[in-house]
Amino acid sequence: MCGIMGYIGKNDAKQVILNGLAKQEYRGYDSAGLALRCGESIKSVKIVGRVSELKKLVEESDLGETAPVSGIGHTRWATHGGVTVTNAHPHESVDGNIVLLHNGIIENAREIRDKLEAEGIVFISDTDTESACQLLARLYRDCGDVLSAMTKLCASITGAFALVILFRDRPGEIWCARRGSPLVVAHSDGASLCASDPTALLDYTHDLFFMEEGEIARLTEDGCGFFGFDGEPREKQSIFLQWDSVMADKGHYEHFMRKEIDEQPDVLRFTIEAHTDITSVDMEKTLKLPPDLMRGISRVQFVACGTSYYAAAVACNLMESLDDTLNVRADVSSEYRYRNIGRGDDTLAIFISQSGETADTLSAARIAKSKGVHCIAITNVRGSTLDREVDNSLLSLAGPEIGVAATKTFTAQVALLSILVLQLLKLRGALSATDEARLIGGLRSIPAKQQAVLSRENDIKALAEKYSDSKGFFFIGRRESVPLTLEGALKLKEIAYLPSEAYAAGEMKHGPIAMLDEKLTVVAIVPQNDLREKMLSNVAECRARNAPIILLATDGDEGIKSFANDVIFAPATEKELFPLLGVVPLQLFAYHVAKTLGRDIDMPRNLAKSVTVE
Ligand code: M6R
Repeated sequence: MCGIMGYIGKNDAKQVILNGLAKQEYRGYDSAGLALRCGESIKSVKIVGRVSELKKLVEESDLGETAPVSGIGHTRWATHGGVTVTNAHPHESVDGNIVLLHNGIIENAREIRDKLEAEGIVFISDTDTESACQLLARLYRDCGDVLSAMTKLCASITGAFALVILFRDRPGEIWCARRGSPLVVAHSDGASLCASDPTALLDYTHDLFFMEEGEIARLTEDGCGFFGFDGEPREKQSIFLQWDSVMADKGHYEHFMRKEIDEQPDVLRFTIEAHTDITSVDMEKTLKLPPDLMRGISRVQFVACGTSYYAAAVACNLMESLDDTLNVRADVSSEYRYRNIGRGDDTLAIFISQSGETADTLSAARIAKSKGVHCIAITNVRGSTLDREVDNSLLSLAGPEIGVAATKTFTAQVALLSILVLQLLKLRGALSATDEARLIGGLRSIPAKQQAVLSRENDIKALAEKYSDSKGFFFIGRRESVPLTLEGALKLKEIAYLPSEAYAAGEMKHGPIAMLDEKLTVVAIVPQNDLREKMLSNVAECRARNAPIILLATDGDEGIKSFANDVIFAPATEKELFPLLGVVPLQLFAYHVAKTLGRDIDMPRNLAKSVTVE
């Protein structure tokens, strides 16, 4: 959470920083601030609100005659301390020498603060960050050497942090440190930059240095130097990130989310073509597992958070349906740590994270690694922490996703996971040629079918407008549709703020059905397969309680209309692959409900795109 941007070079630092913050605003957006070196002094501007308001205030502020050539900026998602201007970053030490901003949580902040207050240092904010700022100022005053003060600071603070710092008496430098929270550094054309998210740097360069755990960096106009927390210099290789900066642009769309929904057929085509040929899986180049490994595996665990967890659940169902000799499960990362996950050679854990920076998923992967479990990661961001920490890391090829609500990364994850499941089962000798050809053929047909659903947007929009005054929604489905009910409900919760529940349809009569009345809409997922009749019985039970019913059904299933108030149709698919298609109308439905209600779709309240605290 929180977006960071730093710049030192010859250009106008305030423009570079404001642009970088605007690109990372989805990471946190309750307040924003920047500090610019203006001649001899450092001037800070902070606001409660969005980057656009910060920009206005910066333009109105007196920053002196010459454009600042270095500075740091921050967009905040509050953890410690309310949303106020005083708590917004950057923070300044009481002696005025340190200006610091932070992403993460400093766990021993209270202890540090108590000690420094006992020494007479007066704190002005309620944040954990200020303790790092005041402590660094004290350490620097004591030793007079920046690197040594930085190493002492990093040794003294616990928790997660990406820190970016200006020292008033070191005009040509910006200092950074990282443990737990992401930070990317780059040098290009007489300037050095840092950011939380690589997309903020792509206008300047694609050669990026992803800071590792326990690293310090010194940025100057001439380059970037790296050190360990022990103060020893480190050689670092840059990583070339292929993303294009226009991929992170809204283009003609009103919202990133809407653009990202439309990108799904292309994203799926790339993903499928990269890992399959016409009738078979082909992951030999991308997946580097010892050939016999899968034959010795008895447990497979899919682990992720939020929407990525629902992708995990889809993969779990697929694997289990194809191989009854494996013990397969999906877990949310934050709970994985409390389970007896097994140890050693017979277990394979697959960690899924769009950002590759989700703190709970990173912790889960570290626990699995420490127990000798075989690990695979799926992430959308090359160079992210998960990508670097897990040896077998696969990229979902969705391109940058900016809308806080995950859309194209979900379908990219499901596609890649489905192919991975087929590959793993093939290596195990547990995939029949018939199933392989059937599912690969099915996958290859999905992009065109998604396109067909997208072309029906106006019908879905009309339904969204009609039902947007519902007091809430129940999503129900069975088997492969259960993860879809969860995803459909989550989309509505996060962008429309409407109470939305998801249930395995059979569970309704064990309690939830008591809530139904004419203002609570049921969205029932009823593809035309072996479960259609059972689903329709559950739908009838809901209808008998006066709940309005929307069905998601298969093209040509005209008979289903009599069971519902409204029907959204989608093309037929292989039943295991239905989530890849069925999710698209649910995304469009949530989008248009949120739009009808006038919600802030790309930056919904209280959320942040990347959850880097546990
Ligand atoms: O980056 P990750 O995939 O690890 O993120 C996990 C969740 O935070 C994320 O999917 C979240 O639930 C989305 N906002 C859902 O739209």
